[in-house]
Amino acid sequence: MRAIIPLMEIFSKKEIVEILSNDDKNDWLFSLADKVRKEYVGDAVHLRGLIEFSNICKRTCKYCGLRCENKNIDRYRIEAEDIIFYAKKAAEMGYRTVVLQSGEDEFYNAKKLAEIVKEIKKADVAVTLSVGEMSFDDYKMLKDAGADRYLLRIETTDRNLYKQMHPNMDFDNRKRCLKDLRTLGYEVGTGCLVGLKGQTIESLADDILFFMEINADMVGIGPFIAHPDTPLKDAPNGSFSLALKVMALTRILLKNINIPATTAMETLNPNGRIIALQSGANVVMPNVTSTEYRKKYEIYPNKICINENPEQCRGCIENKIKSIGRTIATDCGFRKK
Ligand code: SAM
Ligand code: SF4
Ligand code: FES
Repeated sequence: MRAIIPLMEIFSKKEIVEILSNDDKNDWLFSLADKVRKEYVGDAVHLRGLIEFSNICKRTCKYCGLRCENKNIDRYRIEAEDIIFYAKKAAEMGYRTVVLQSGEDEFYNAKKLAEIVKEIKKADVAVTLSVGEMSFDDYKMLKDAGADRYLLRIETTDRNLYKQMHPNMDFDNRKRCLKDLRTLGYEVGTGCLVGLKGQTIESLADDILFFMEINADMVGIGPFIAHPDTPLKDAPNGSFSLALKVMALTRILLKNINIPATTAMETLNPNGRIIALQSGANVVMPNVTSTEYRKKYEIYPNKICINENPEQCRGCIENKIKSIGRTIATDCGFRKK
């Protein structure tokens, strides 16, 4: 039988706002999130091998270094056979999930991606896609090809802020995408940025309630980090501690989901991923591509791991995880029922 967590099942929005607004209960919050994580998903950490296969993007999200209006970036697109090579190599290294992520690059349409997914699925791995907004039919083609999961952060549930941050994008379409992914049987991942200019604590509370409302299977939360070649270049970075609190509350409320210790957290705090793993997270996504691409996938500056290779990252993260008494999962890491 599950141990009783000394906490009511659900916080009200008012309580979430109160917790996010004050730092006096942080120790309690992080240790409770750690307990819930241990009880519902255990000590094993799931490693997902990340392949950032194209930094070409048709969108203009104001915070992101890959936005098409940024001319100060060396664009690349990894060829299909190399994507498959990295995925199979990741499987050989022991990864049980491969994550294919990119800008919204029209060259890699659903048909081309489906061929890649089919080939990767011949290795014994789960495949997660994170390639942005598509039609129902495209998502269906990718699901039929064998894709298991999809990551599409809502970024913010504040409709006005969403509009400001995403020129020519539509909040309702973002929600439609998440709904379609659910209908099609994907494990659905979403999440938000913390610290966007104009974002309120109330809207962060709404983000957490949204994760509950759509019953997200995975939630990635990352602090905003200002990129010098974007319209938000002078905006202050998001707060590591606030992002950690949003993450901890998400663990406490959604319990058995998968939550990554995000790279952006480690960019702001040299021990960020380990702190996150001790505050509710149970997933890490090390990069499994060659060093040459890492610098160029600059969604924000000072990204970690840009000079390392796949073997170095694997060794580094395994050591860190073991140093805090946790283990590396050997299964594919679907949401625990
Ligand atoms: N293009 C796809 C999409 O937007 O869903 C996937 C790739 S996109 C680079 C992945 C995530 O990067 C976004 O969901 C966003 O939250 C995050 N991101 C972009 N710019 C960022 C920044 N300046 N600071 C922190 N995270 C950022
Ligand atoms: Fe493109 Fe994604 Fe960056 Fe937006 S967040 S500009 S969609 S890569
Ligand atoms: Fe890449 Fe530590 S995980 S260097």
